[in-house]
Parts: sequence; structure tokens; C-alpha cells
Amino acid sequence: MSIPSARQFTSTLDKTSFSPLHSHEYRTNLVARYTHALYRWYVARSQQTRNWNPDRGFDWRALRQNPSERLTQILEGFYAVEQYAPDYTAQLITLARKSYGRAQFQIRWGSEEEKHSDLWRNTLLFSRARTPKQLEDYTRDLRENAWEAPFQSPLEMLFYTVFQERATQLIYLKTGAIARGENPSFPGEADPVLAKVISAIAIDEAAHYDFFLEVARLHIYYFPDEALRALVTVMKNFVMPATKLYPNYDAFITVLYEAQIFSPRLFARDVAKPAMAALGVDTIRAVEAGIIRSRETPDAGGMFRPDKAFTGCNLGIVESAVQNLFGRIERFENEVGLSDIMPTTFEPWGDVLTIPDEAKPAGA
Ligand SMILES: [Fe+2]
Ligand SMILES: [Fe+2]
Repeated sequence: MSIPSARQFTSTLDKTSFSPLHSHEYRTNLVARYTHALYRWYVARSQQTRNWNPDRGFDWRALRQNPSERLTQILEGFYAVEQYAPDYTAQLITLARKSYGRAQFQIRWGSEEEKHSDLWRNTLLFSRARTPKQLEDYTRDLRENAWEAPFQSPLEMLFYTVFQERATQLIYLKTGAIARGENPSFPGEADPVLAKVISAIAIDEAAHYDFFLEVARLHIYYFPDEALRALVTVMKNFVMPATKLYPNYDAFITVLYEAQIFSPRLFARDVAKPAMAALGVDTIRAVEAGIIRSRETPDAGGMFRPDKAFTGCNLGIVESAVQNLFGRIERFENEVGLSDIMPTTFEPWGDVLTIPDEAKPAGA
């Protein structure tokens, strides 16, 4: 479906009181269009900078052998989580299928996640931590259960993946410190090949986080009411993926906690707080209060009042981040020539919404 132009929309309406951005459908099409543009940028960058192969990209014969059982439990846990990539991908594609860009992205995302699983398999095998038979038996056990998306709406799953990708990146970065010999509670485990493996995956997870964060921010910008509600729901019910699916999950999580690789405290400090800040949100409590207030303030004539919906979220931060995203997309489209046929242009709220000075980021 083509997006109606602003002129088409306003031709029969009072131009002073109505903007096409007041239309939910118009904004839905805009966000779908923008997500597609970001997906194009993402694929080009992924192929250019992260196109490694799980077998040929690493010197497997040089991998350190016989890691401690504690480190093995961590590596095996990583494999367990990543090997559900087909389940994650199938469900996320189905949820996102109405958005061309997001559904296409989920295929690309799945192709990156499946390589993580292959890397962990190789790590367990080449380190001799597990025999081929142990690995096959373990995989068979894992495949007895299928992953189910923890939330049913595409919007909630979008916010879920923002936090989940950031948490995964954090966990890998902290495990990387073990492989670099920088974690004193894992003496003698330094291994440059393992460090390279972990770094490759952590860079992917950072790229995933960035993509989901940008799309989540677009939703907050254009659909503050729905998006902030979804954010609250996700934050209040967050669990890491596949926690109930594999038999040795408790042992895995115990090692992660003991080694300070992951914990509820680390999640709050290094995952939730920075991710929410990037979404223009200080605390979930402030967003909840905003949701209640916006419910108590009926819109005159039923018109959407975005300024009310942003209560609890710093619109200035969100808008300037969205503007930066368009700078990135514009450069890409100029380079490849898409700007000649199908340029992606940012449609800000502009006069529809006045941002109070105190809500603008410093220097804006
Ligand atoms: Fe992954
Ligand atoms: Fe990921």
C-alpha cells in the first residue's frame, strides 16, 4: 500500500487543525517504511562487516582444550539458548509478517543467530569439553521442547527483544573477560580463540540491539501511548529466553550469578537502565504515572494528543535520536542511489506537538 502524501490527506481537511500524523494508519505506514529503510542499511552493513563463517572463520585446532567444568557449563548454556534460533525466528517472522522490513529483518537476524549456535557447538567439540555423542544427545533433549514467545503482540515482542539482545551482549562481553584472562575467579582459562569467538558474537548482539532499539524508538515516537504501555508490560514481566526449556538451566544460571556475569542487579544497572535511557525513559514508574494521567485527561473531540501520551518519556531525547537515524539512512540511500527513486524522509511531529524547552536534550 502506498503512503498517502501529506497533501492528499489535508486537501479536504482543516489544515490548521489536522496533520496526516494524526492518522494512526498514516503513522503505521510511515514506521513500516522507515523500518524497511533501516533493514536495507542493516543488511549492507552486516554483509560488509560481520560476514564471518563459523567453521572457516576461526582457528579451531588452536582452541584451548579441556576448560574447567564451570566454564563448560557456561558455554553449554550459551549453546542451549542459541540453538533455539529456528524457534525464535519462526515465531518472530510470523508476528512481524505484516511489516515487510521487520519480517525481512527477522530472516537476516535468524541467519546470524544460527551462526552463534554453530560457534558454540564448535567450541564445545574442539575444546573436547563435550564428545560428539554428548552433544548430539544434549541437542536431542533440547529439541524436545519448543520456545514460545513470552508476549503475543508484535509491539511487546519488539520491546522484549531490545532488552534481551542487550542482556545477551552484556553476558557475552563479561564472558569475553574470562577468555582474555581478566576474570580472577577463572584462573588459567585465557584463550585467544575463545576470545575471538565471543567477540564475534557480542558484536552481532550489539548490532541486533541497535536495530531493535531504533525500531522501538520509532514506535515510541509515533505511537507513544501504545509503545509505552508495551514497554511497561515487558519490563514488569521480563525473563531471559528459554529459561524453562533446558534441563541444566539452574546450574547454568548459578554459575553466571557466581561469576558476576549476570544477575538481577546487573540486569537493572547495565541492561534496563541504559536501554530505557536510550528510549527516553527514566523510570518505569514515571511512565506508568504518565499512562494513568493521560487516561484521566480526555482529548477534546477524541483527537489524538501526542503531547499527553509522552508523559514519563523525554520526547526531546527520542526525537533527536530518530533524527540521527535518518542521517544514517540518508547517507546510505545517497550512496546506493535509492535516494533517486525512493528516498526515505523523516516526518517530524513539528507543530502538531510542542516540545517543552526543559524536555529538550542539552545543546538541541
Ligand atoms: Fe545470539
Ligand atoms: Fe541476538
